[in-house]
Amino acid sequence: MISIVSKIRKLSPFVFQKTKIGIDLGTSMTRIAIDNKGIVLREPTFVGQNTKTGQYIFYGTDAKDIYGKAPGYIKVIKPIEHSIISDFDATVYLMEQFLKKAVYPYYQGTFIKRGLVGYTVVPTSSTEVEQKALQEAFIKAGFQTVYLIEKPIVEAYGAGHNIFTNKPVFVIDLGAGIVEAAIITMGGIVSSKVLRTGGDHMDRLIYNYLHLKYGLIIGEQTSEHLKVKLFNLSDQKGVLAVRGKSLENGLPKSVRVTSRDVQEALAVAMNQIVDSVKELIETVPPEVIDGLIRSGVVLTGEFARIPGIDRYISNDIKIPTTIASNPEDATIHGLQKLMKEEERLNRVVFAG
Ligand SMILES: Nc1ncnc2c1ncn2[C@@H]1O[C@H](COP(=O)(O)OP(=O)(O)OP(=O)(O)O)[C@@H](O)[C@H]1O
Ligand SMILES: [Mg+2]
Repeated sequence: MISIVSKIRKLSPFVFQKTKIGIDLGTSMTRIAIDNKGIVLREPTFVGQNTKTGQYIFYGTDAKDIYGKAPGYIKVIKPIEHSIISDFDATVYLMEQFLKKAVYPYYQGTFIKRGLVGYTVVPTSSTEVEQKALQEAFIKAGFQTVYLIEKPIVEAYGAGHNIFTNKPVFVIDLGAGIVEAAIITMGGIVSSKVLRTGGDHMDRLIYNYLHLKYGLIIGEQTSEHLKVKLFNLSDQKGVLAVRGKSLENGLPKSVRVTSRDVQEALAVAMNQIVDSVKELIETVPPEVIDGLIRSGVVLTGEFARIPGIDRYISNDIKIPTTIASNPEDATIHGLQKLMKEEERLNRVVFAG
């Protein structure tokens, strides 16, 4: 048997080659990178299911596009919620499709699929059961092995910080599903805090606000659009006319929504974020504070693109704050870097 295996190895050097794949299964977006090939996919983490047959029928951008507009027999699923799996089967389907679309074409004509090694992240608040489910989803989707790393470690590294020294690094990830703040030294988490009030929650707050103030009913995609276009923490004034349904009579209704409206809708949620960051700072040892002030806070996640959010946070917590360049790619960039550095990876991996 062994001799047959070694013969195959000699005949085809590709059969047993390992391919390292980084996957950031975000609540709103999935990003995939192949070692030495770069980022090969960025698509919404959405799946469409035929409710009559139970079959999944589309995924990614196509599924997000139809969100809120689908006919009765189609259910659009967001298989990741608050950065963890909420629908196991839909997650496996989505990963299989993404691999088919963005990874396998690179290796057509080889047997490389057998050697996929996955690298991914989990929130610091995730339970063992949630971590096991994520590992199982990777294996079911076609991976041979999967390594899990705590999300803030990867983000801080992807944002360009050296997380392996004794200088503390403070990272706040502002994603769609969670806001996760963490302080890292020597490649480990000193303290962290997770809030389930990410960008998706903000969209719901805007929906509720318009419902109450204008008697207007809008879809989730419109709420998200208003947040991205109008929300800012730097006194910029903007206005957008949106169409929805009247709460009174169900007929079409158009309202001019202002930045002020969106700011009011999100004020409490933004305060909660800052308050929880302050609570986190209170938990760290005094020796770490000086280092934090020196190194500052780095913001990651696409919600960090809100104008003025860096000043808003630094004014309140009294620590200099910067936004990572391409903040939405910090996680996948961190995975790309760690995949290459086996020794450092071994220090941060906690399940594999
Ligand atoms: N230009 C923008 N300004 C502000 N927010 C934005 C912008 N573009 C997208 N967003 C919001 O950022 C959030 C998505 O961020 P990101 O892609 O980092 O999340 P994710 O990685 O999918 O989720 P998570 O890490 O929480 O699981 C969404 O709520 C989206 O509406
Ligand atoms: Mg994310």
